[in-house]
Amino acid sequence: MIEKGSDILYAASLLSKGGLVAFPTETVYGLGANAFDPVAVARIFEVKQRPSFDPLIVHISDIEQIELLFEKPINPLVYELAKKFWPGPLTIVHTKNSHVPDIVTSGLSTVAVRMPLHPVALNLIRAAKTPVAAPSANRFGRISPTRPSHVIKQLSGIDYLLTGNAGSVGIESTVVSAHKGYCKLLRPGGISAHDIEQVCPCKLPNTENFENSELPSPGLLTSHYAPNKPIYIVPKNQLANLPEGSGVILHSKKAFIDARRVVYTSENQNLTEVAANLFMAMHIMEDDNTIQQIYIEPVSETGLGIAIMDRVKKAAFKYK
Ligand code: TXA
Ligand code: MG
Repeated sequence: MIEKGSDILYAASLLSKGGLVAFPTETVYGLGANAFDPVAVARIFEVKQRPSFDPLIVHISDIEQIELLFEKPINPLVYELAKKFWPGPLTIVHTKNSHVPDIVTSGLSTVAVRMPLHPVALNLIRAAKTPVAAPSANRFGRISPTRPSHVIKQLSGIDYLLTGNAGSVGIESTVVSAHKGYCKLLRPGGISAHDIEQVCPCKLPNTENFENSELPSPGLLTSHYAPNKPIYIVPKNQLANLPEGSGVILHSKKAFIDARRVVYTSENQNLTEVAANLFMAMHIMEDDNTIQQIYIEPVSETGLGIAIMDRVKKAAFKYK
């Protein structure tokens, strides 16, 4: 049984003592530990069954805290990106200083940092008086959680779960590394490359030829975010004569589909709504014992649709 509640000061005191706290953010639920406590961070990897080569994001509540994490001189681009997108779903990767434990970064010379836009997350980090290392609070490879019940279903060995729902974004942050005058997109997410282009040029990585310190985010693994039953990507106009026990995830309410269960992420293909409800829809289908296989319609791969389809394709990777 995971203890849960809304006591932020208690949660912060647990973090100070090496505890693990699950907390809501505007993207997905995080599983946090004091970023400067390597033993506590090691427990995150254990609880998530996460491979040790996959580095964590460190969460901060105030921009000054980047000086506790990033090696100086800090690239001015970091401040420009932070000013425009923080608090919010952008994670910035930059050379780390020697105080950041290697276990946080899986031995990389860089560390990933973001300031979340969720009052519970911000108040927790402030009360803990330390940056908080936190991956998404799911078991490795499985669907990301946006509700307390999603965390409880997948994980045990957590000291406390702060109640609340993940906020309006619903899919993980965009991860970029800050270079001199441009940034490189390491994982698509809640902020589109187009939005980042308003601040600086944004390059897509060459996945075959990463510089040493710049691994593609393991978010780039081909299979990830997956429900525990088959899921297929099928356009809506081909969703006919489905087998028994089919669940269908649609992004607009326009057509009638004959299936055991239909879940809508949006009424009219609104990509912000689709992102906010995507993981929720997958969890509903996973939890419904009458559903044997899931069909999901694609969205167009523009703007936020790129990050949405990234998650959908990884969920469906094994079932082409
Ligand atoms: O929205 C989010 O980002 C959520 C919430 C909880 O903040 N967190 C999240 O964490 O999605 P996680 O661990 O599921 O994904 C972190 C991603 C991984 O793909 C990891 O490889 C990448 O960030 N990452 C972390 N440090 C990195 C680094 N130094 N260089 C490149 N990629 C890094
Ligand atoms: Mg994750």
